[in-house]
Amino acid sequence: MADTNRRWLLATRPHGVIKDSDFTLAESAVPEPGPGEFLVRVTHLSFDPTQRGWLAADSYLPAVKIGEPVRAGAVGQVVKSNHPGFKPGQMVQGGFGWQEYVVSSGMTEIGPITPLFPGVTPEQALGVFGITGLTAYFGLTDLGRPEPGDTVLVSGAAGATGSVVVQVAKALGCKVIGIAGGPDKCAWVTTVAGADACIDYRTGDVAGQIKALAPKGVNVVFENVGGEILEAALMNIALKARVILCGGISSYNEEDPNAGPGIRPYMQLTLQRARMEGFIILDYMHRFAEGVQALAGLMAQGKLTTAEDIQVGFENCPATLRRLFEGKNLGKQLLKLTDPPLPVV
Ligand SMILES: NC(=O)c1ccc[n+]([C@@H]2O[C@H](COP(=O)([O-])OP(=O)(O)OC[C@H]3O[C@@H](n4cnc5c(N)ncnc54)[C@H](OP(=O)(O)O)[C@@H]3O)[C@@H](O)[C@H]2O)c1
Repeated sequence: MADTNRRWLLATRPHGVIKDSDFTLAESAVPEPGPGEFLVRVTHLSFDPTQRGWLAADSYLPAVKIGEPVRAGAVGQVVKSNHPGFKPGQMVQGGFGWQEYVVSSGMTEIGPITPLFPGVTPEQALGVFGITGLTAYFGLTDLGRPEPGDTVLVSGAAGATGSVVVQVAKALGCKVIGIAGGPDKCAWVTTVAGADACIDYRTGDVAGQIKALAPKGVNVVFENVGGEILEAALMNIALKARVILCGGISSYNEEDPNAGPGIRPYMQLTLQRARMEGFIILDYMHRFAEGVQALAGLMAQGKLTTAEDIQVGFENCPATLRRLFEGKNLGKQLLKLTDPPLPVV
């Protein structure tokens, strides 16, 4: 086992796109677990757009403190344990953050540390069966409530969350229109994820392109991007549409994400007697097992495929987070630190 623990600590609150200099790469001794504690070596880190918000200000979770490791979902292996519930060698997941080793008694800022389900890989635990897959599943089924034959519009359709939404909506018998950046991502959204069509928003006139593909309007909007993409969607909602506000990544690098131009065509919600609703996946924690079971069922039926973008090397944490905002990832953005299984003490 290495005797040095590396940690990326928040050095300053970022302005705009994050820079490496917003963080400090610190080295310290690997911590020793005390009574009732265990030591985890992190093997895989999850990268999520919401981390940009956690670095900036208090929101649904408190902001990461200056000098603290960057908060992140992760998978790791228990390498030493004085805790009866955690055995050396066991693979676990939790909010371990940007650090190679973590001592814990079982709880992290974003929930309890839990063993990986049998047969589930670290990539699946953080992706399709993790926060993004579950966000897709519960946001679409619980709030969007699509009926067979409905038209579902999904922005960020080649991303971790959007790509699962596309496939769950197809499995529920919907017509699915994706929106993504660039021809390669759009080709993947239609040929691999199985959407009926995909709009490359970089080619412009997104509202006109939606109208051409869904002249009777869209019944469910699963919104990951916000801003002008959301406005284009609202211009095309059908009667009684459900607009699910999952995220708005287009504003996350703004100095004040709440000071944008606003949603101009909001009156469409009135005219179409539609509903627009946001959610935070942590509210569904008590139903995660149900979501995992449903997604695993779709995978077993060949109706759900996953894509992962796996970067390598702990030193690349800031660069890997930037990839989400540069649109470089296809599917779930991960960073592998080391391959399990690891030696245990
Ligand atoms: N409500 C919740 O509880 C919850 C939980 C998880 C995720 N989310 C939200 O879901 C959304 C997707 O998250 P994810 O983890 O699945 O990430 P992701 O979609 O895998 O990655 C982010 C993607 O966003 C697109 N993007 C980045 N900057 C953009 C911009 N300025 N305009 C338009 N598109 C941009 C890029 O795709 P293109 O190349 O296609 O532009 C990029 O690949 C985010 O808004 C996130 O905050 C919400």
